[in-house]
Amino acid sequence: MLGNFIYSNPTTLYFGDQAQKNITEALKGFGPKVLLTYGGGSIKRNGIYEQVCEALKEAGKQVTEVSGVMPNPTLGKVLEGARIARENNVDLILAVGGGSTIDYAKAVSAAAYYEGDVWQNFWVKQKEPAADQHIIPIGAILTMAGTGSEMNGGSVITNEETKMKIGKVFSQRLMPKFAILNPRYTFSVPRYQMVAGIFDIMSHIMEQYFSGDDDNTSDYLAEGLMRSVIASSRVAIKDPENYEARSNIMWSATWALNTLIGEGKKEDWMVHMIGHAISAYTHATHGMTLAAVSVAYYRHIMPYAVKRFARFAKVVWEIPSQNKSDLQLASEGIDALAAWIKEIGAASEISSLGATPDMLEGIADATIILNGGYKVLDHDEVIKILQESL
Ligand code: NZQ
Ligand code: ZN
Repeated sequence: MLGNFIYSNPTTLYFGDQAQKNITEALKGFGPKVLLTYGGGSIKRNGIYEQVCEALKEAGKQVTEVSGVMPNPTLGKVLEGARIARENNVDLILAVGGGSTIDYAKAVSAAAYYEGDVWQNFWVKQKEPAADQHIIPIGAILTMAGTGSEMNGGSVITNEETKMKIGKVFSQRLMPKFAILNPRYTFSVPRYQMVAGIFDIMSHIMEQYFSGDDDNTSDYLAEGLMRSVIASSRVAIKDPENYEARSNIMWSATWALNTLIGEGKKEDWMVHMIGHAISAYTHATHGMTLAAVSVAYYRHIMPYAVKRFARFAKVVWEIPSQNKSDLQLASEGIDALAAWIKEIGAASEISSLGATPDMLEGIADATIILNGGYKVLDHDEVIKILQESL
């Protein structure tokens, strides 16, 4: 049952192959000082940087830059950005990049005027900045599809000292005020990252879909999105510059994790918890960690939700159901997921991402156990899933 909820989302989206023409307009509502954040330099190679700078100039902004935001952004880098934002008294943080850069902007915004222990309070204890704390607004220019960070409050940060990678979902105050979504900007994303992004989208949907056993509109929406992601992935793998496929992937990514399909759902997120722990140990690409553990995880929990997995097989993978038990169908659905992971070239083994047998205990210890899925895992079950994913 859907139950009671309030739904609103403050992010204005500008979508399409001319979306960048709206940057100047989108910047108008904010003060003159902008902190421009971006990653390791891809935006300088593909021309996006120039377009953004031109728009900033046209809007009459004074720009300070923080570059070098790494994939899986670190606490140290957040604290550096927070200091620069504060010292320059910026009015807006403009993040140009993928999930790492946009997550980073949220973290910098939350940390800039916070006087306590940023890591302990926001990420470990999952507190929210106080209502009277100054929050710097954020704008996003998305260059890679996957995380949904462009329209949510998520900010996943890695503490390298404690080897913990934790996601904090901030309230609407920290969500981007606007996001520019030009699918053409994703054409230059390397294939490995494109595939990781595609699997990340699929995983976000599955994390929400594999929970609860009621009849819920959210599940029908999730099934439609999964079918779109699978169909578009098959086109994009063969033809990365296929605008139709890349635009479907970008739009699906946004809707996969902007809270819409989570309404009325308990939500699982254990694949993400295990994936984050793997990244904390190996620095592996987020989406690949999810692909590498998903099959073992879903085989493990399937007996606790046979009907839901049978529905997944039938509706999402279009597996014929005649003369099959739900159990058989459920198992064939996970086989189809495993085959798709291979087909698109996502990771099937965590060893290919740098995980070694001696790390498994530490990864299991760093895995946060949640209770929204079909089976609450214990430490030994996490170890078993990791071993089966090696
Ligand atoms: O750093 P640059 O040089 O820009 O290169 C990036 C980076 O190396 C490159 N790239 C991005 N756009 C490109 C491009 N290269 C060429 N052309 C372009 N147009 O791609 C690489 C990966 O970028 P990154 O931002 O790290 O990828 P992604 O979008 O997958 O973000 C991953 C981060 O988001 C977190 C992950 O844990 C990870 O830290 N997540 C955030 C979530 C959220 N906010 O809700 C949820 C997710 O589950 C996820 O945990
Ligand atoms: Zn993810």
